[in-house]
Order: sequence, then C-alpha cells, then structure tokens
Amino acid sequence: VPAEVVVVGAGPAGLTLANLLRRNGIGCVVLERQSRRYVENRARAGLLEYRAVEMLRSHGLADRLLELGAPHGVCEFRIGGKRFILPYSDLYEGRTHYVYPQQELVKDLIEAFVDSGGDIRFEAKDVALHGISGSAPSVTWVGSDGEQHRVRCEFIAGCDGFRGVSRPSIPAGGVREFSHQPGIAWLGVLAEVPPSTEHVIYALHPKGFAGHMLRSPTVSRFFLQCPVDDSTAAWPDDRIWAELHERFAVPGSDWKLSEGRIIEKGVVDMRGHVTEPMAYGRLFLLGDAAHVITPVGAKGMNLALHDAEVLATALAGYYRGGDESGLTEYSETCLRRVWRCQEFSQWMTTAIHGTGDRFEDRTARTRLENLFRSPASAAWFAENYVGLM
Ligand code: APR
Repeated sequence: VPAEVVVVGAGPAGLTLANLLRRNGIGCVVLERQSRRYVENRARAGLLEYRAVEMLRSHGLADRLLELGAPHGVCEFRIGGKRFILPYSDLYEGRTHYVYPQQELVKDLIEAFVDSGGDIRFEAKDVALHGISGSAPSVTWVGSDGEQHRVRCEFIAGCDGFRGVSRPSIPAGGVREFSHQPGIAWLGVLAEVPPSTEHVIYALHPKGFAGHMLRSPTVSRFFLQCPVDDSTAAWPDDRIWAELHERFAVPGSDWKLSEGRIIEKGVVDMRGHVTEPMAYGRLFLLGDAAHVITPVGAKGMNLALHDAEVLATALAGYYRGGDESGLTEYSETCLRRVWRCQEFSQWMTTAIHGTGDRFEDRTARTRLENLFRSPASAAWFAENYVGLM
C-alpha cells in the first residue's frame, strides 16, 4: 500500500499534519505506537497560541476548541506577596490565547482525520524507517494483528516525540543537537479541583516558584519549583497543598486556594533541545521529535502545530506544482520560530525563578518589574506570550 507520506506519531504535530495533508488530497498513513484510548487520555500541555487557534479554525479543526476552550488575555504575577495583573492581550491588538487540554485537541484531530476517511494505525509496534537518504523510503512496523507491514512512500514525517524512532534514524553527523538544562526543576501536579483563579498565576516566593495553570472547569494544573534531583516520593499530597498555600499566599487578601484529589504528579523535564536541521533526505522532523522546550512559556504544543502547518504547506506546493522550495526551506522556517520560543522561554524561566546568583536574581526581578513599568517591555512580553504572528 503506497502512500505519499508516512506520519510517525499521533500527537498534535502528526495529527495536524495528517489532517492538512488529507485536505490537500495528499495520501498519508499515520502510525501510532499507543492505543487510541491512551493518546486521547494523556494529559500534557494546555495553552494554544492565537495563531495556532486561527490556523486550526481556518481548516475547520477548531469547532470544539472554540466551544469548550477558554480565551485568555490576562495573567497575574505574585511577587513578595503582592499581586500584579498583566492584561497582555490589550497590548497585542486584543489577541488572546486559548486554554484547551492537549488531549482534547488530540481527540478532535483523530476524529476529524478518521471521519474524513484517514488511515491511522494504532498500536503500531517496532516502527522502523528505511531508505530515508534515497528517493524511495519505506516504513515497516508490526501491526496490532501481529503481522509485519511495510509502506513505500515518498516522504516520512517524524512526529514521534523526543524519544521516538525518527531522529535516531538519521545517520551520525546528519544533524547537530543543541541542548540546555536551566538547573531548575518543577513538580507538576494535576488535581481534580476547579481553578481558584480566572487566569494563570505565576507566584515568586522565597521558598521557590509556584504556578497555577488552567486546564478545564474541573481540573487544575499546578507547578512547584523543587530541587533539581527531587522526586515525587518527597512530595506527598499534604506537602504539595501546604507548599502551594504558602507560596500563593497574599497577606491581607481574601484569596484562597481550593484543594482537591491529586490525579497526577511528576518532576517535569525543563530542558531545551533543538535539532538542526529538522530534516534529512526524505525524513522531516516535527514537534518534540525535533525540539523540546521548557513548559514555562507554554510553547511545546504550539511549535508542534506550527511545524505541521509549514510542512503541510510545503508538501502541498510540491504535489500541486512540483515546487520544492517549501521543502528545502522547511527547516529554516521552523527553526526561526523554534529559537525565538526558546529565547522567550529562557527569558521567562530566569525572570520567574532567578538563577541563585545574587546579582542575576536582582536583574531577573528587574526584568519582571519592567513589565509593570515599561509599556514597551509589556508589549514585547504580550507578543511572545500570546504567540508571534
Ligand atoms: N512509533 C510510533 N509512535 C511513536 C513512537 C514510535 N517509535 N514513539 C512515540 N510515538 C508516539 C507517541 O505515542 C505520541 O503519541 O508519537 C507521539 C508523539 O506525540 P507528542 O509527544 O505529543 O509530540 P508532538 O506531537 O510533537 O507534540 C508536542 O506534546 O509532548 C508534548 O509537551 C509536548 O506539548 C508538547 C507536545
């Protein structure tokens, strides 16, 4: 069964690409290691940039997102127990981003692809890429039927995340890797409790950073800065709530944090990593398969969606008019945005955590306070936080 494109991985990158290819009449098959149920329940990110929502909407893929997702244009910083509200969308022509759980978007994208007759194979094991340097690559895997399968194709889209099989399939020396550890660690917590706030809260406290993120009306996402080598064993539920109460506290205000059942906790990978170029022969890397970014700036899912849009446009140009320019420029086009998001996330990471160096802690604090003193600084933050157009 030949296909123009084999997509490895059914996350935001792979599923967006698959849907856009189908809309352009380009045949593809999606190979996903996990079951449909697993990927539709895997909680990950939850903030979609303005342009990502517009892109999905323009392809008719945002109906449920626009119905259930929540637009956001304000966030709050708590510094030394004082509240600083930042109405960032006012500083960016009213553009907002949307709170919408990643697994909900995955659900929508799978449904749209399958309903349009898309070919997606779940529980595809031992996916292997062949002939990526030539002009007739193919992909093999063991299906849920236990049978060995092979698809010949023209292009392979590696959308299989940071620990997938695509990037490692590139011969040594084929790409250069850039990696960075900020020396910061977060404990991520998912709790079955309505949010105690209308907007995201970034709290700076002498004991460390605490974040109140949003996912849905009944589920909240929290982050607690913890020692780099920490583990969940050191964080029983009551310690988590005690720390959150303490770090979010605003003396003299009636604000309070609601507690609920903790359904997930884990030390979050805060590294930044970029692969250059994001392509090798007939293999293109998208999303976490090409780059990972700290969750501080909420950019991971948005970069995956952007990569998918760029490659879909490039492949449409190639199949429609034999124009290869989009394919040759794919990597550079994506990397420009990837590095701008890495820079913004690094700015944000140091602004809300400091670095432990006394001098740098002062400059970090000043960087944050500039948001409330300088409209130009606040506008720069708004453009990067809501997302570059
Ligand atoms: N074979 C087939 N599928 C695979 C393989 C493999 N060898 N390895 C991984 N996969 C699948 C995973 O099960 C997952 O469904 O590839 C998919 C990769 O999806 P994501 O990890 O969500 O990556 P991406 O689509 O790039 O989206 C990035 O996801 O990881 C979060 O924080 C990240 O929000 C960001 C977003």
